Amino acid sequence: MVKKRLLFVCLGNICRSPAAEAVFNNLVRKNRLEEYLEADSAGTGAWHVGNPADSRMREAAQKRGIFITSTARQIDLKDFSEFDFIIAMDSENFSGIKSLQKKCSVTKEPVIRLMLSYSKSSKLKDVPDPYYGGDSGFETVLDLLEDACEGLLDSLNPKE
Ligand code: 4NP
Repeated sequence: MVKKRLLFVCLGNICRSPAAEAVFNNLVRKNRLEEYLEADSAGTGAWHVGNPADSRMREAAQKRGIFITSTARQIDLKDFSEFDFIIAMDSENFSGIKSLQKKCSVTKEPVIRLMLSYSKSSKLKDVPDPYYGGDSGFETVLDLLEDACEGLLDSLNPKE
């Protein structure tokens, strides 16, 4: 059994992707799959490196019993060899990941997908960026992530 590693990626790594990491890890714990699955997150940009997640995102998640504890970091070339799945929050992040991958010489290729391609009920393509909006944006992000993380977990065969 090899542990599957997943990296969630957004722009700043302070709103959407740390929330995705926490929502997914919460589901993993609930299903007692910690032995088989592990998630981390990163940003395509470097502005917030070293910072905790946005307090609005942390508070909205905490109300749902989800604790976001990660520190922002930027995606790195070594992530392409260390992760099995790299999951982008929106199409712009997806393009950024693909451009960075071109600089990478490793032969092992992670699966690179859009987060909402795993959604069970949303027809949206991108998780909307909540950074410049009001509080409802953070609730929308969490609703989308809870749904898509369930779809993502269903798509994996963790014990394989
Ligand atoms: P995230 O949100 O990509 O979901 O972490 C953002 C955070 C910060 C900025 C943009 C988006 N920013 O421009 O600083």
